[in-house]
Amino acid sequence: MEIRPLRDDEIEEVVRLWRRSRDASQPWLEARAGHTADEDLRFFRATIARENDVWVADDRGVVGFLAIAGQRLGWLYVDPSAQGRGIGSRLLDKAKALSPAGLTLYTHQRNERARAFYERRGFRAVRFGMSPPPENEPDILYRFDSQQG
Ligand SMILES: CC(C)(COP(=O)(O)OP(=O)(O)OC[C@H]1O[C@@H](n2cnc3c(N)ncnc32)[C@H](O)[C@@H]1OP(=O)(O)O)[C@@H](O)C(=O)NCCC(=O)NCCS
Repeated sequence: MEIRPLRDDEIEEVVRLWRRSRDASQPWLEARAGHTADEDLRFFRATIARENDVWVADDRGVVGFLAIAGQRLGWLYVDPSAQGRGIGSRLLDKAKALSPAGLTLYTHQRNERARAFYERRGFRAVRFGMSPPPENEPDILYRFDSQQG
């Protein structure tokens, strides 16, 4: 498996993976938000890809991705069919290497699997809050400091 930068011609495939992963990990939120596939694609192109560095995990096809801007790890998603094989760990190691000064990220309080995943990899919760409208979902700000990692 290789971790490498996203290519433009892969964006649609990655956006479909992102949706599958969100549907599997937070179905309650996806049902409430009701984003269409076109909205996902527009948001990915206009915001995620434009404002972040996007890296993919390629295992004879894209199986996960991360999007990072400075110390902020904004998105980390692995295809549900590829989870539990160490791909998320490899992507997170890449994010740590890209930002040696440390990382911050938000996750939803209900996403217990992601919380356990980050906490086992050196992240600590620094603030419990609420994501901005229209999402309005309880969230947690996590921080990783490489000196403690
Ligand atoms: C969180 C996430 C990125 C982890 O990716 P991954 O490729 O499964 O990660 P790994 O295989 O490296 O590690 C998975 C860990 O979860 C555990 N796990 C718990 N439930 C599991 C399940 N149903 N299937 C597979 N692994 C599971 C594994 O045992 C492993 O435990 P460890 O921390 O003791 O090593 C992935 O689950 C994901 O994409 N989730 C949905 C999106 C998400 O929540 N992203 C984070 C939002 S901030």
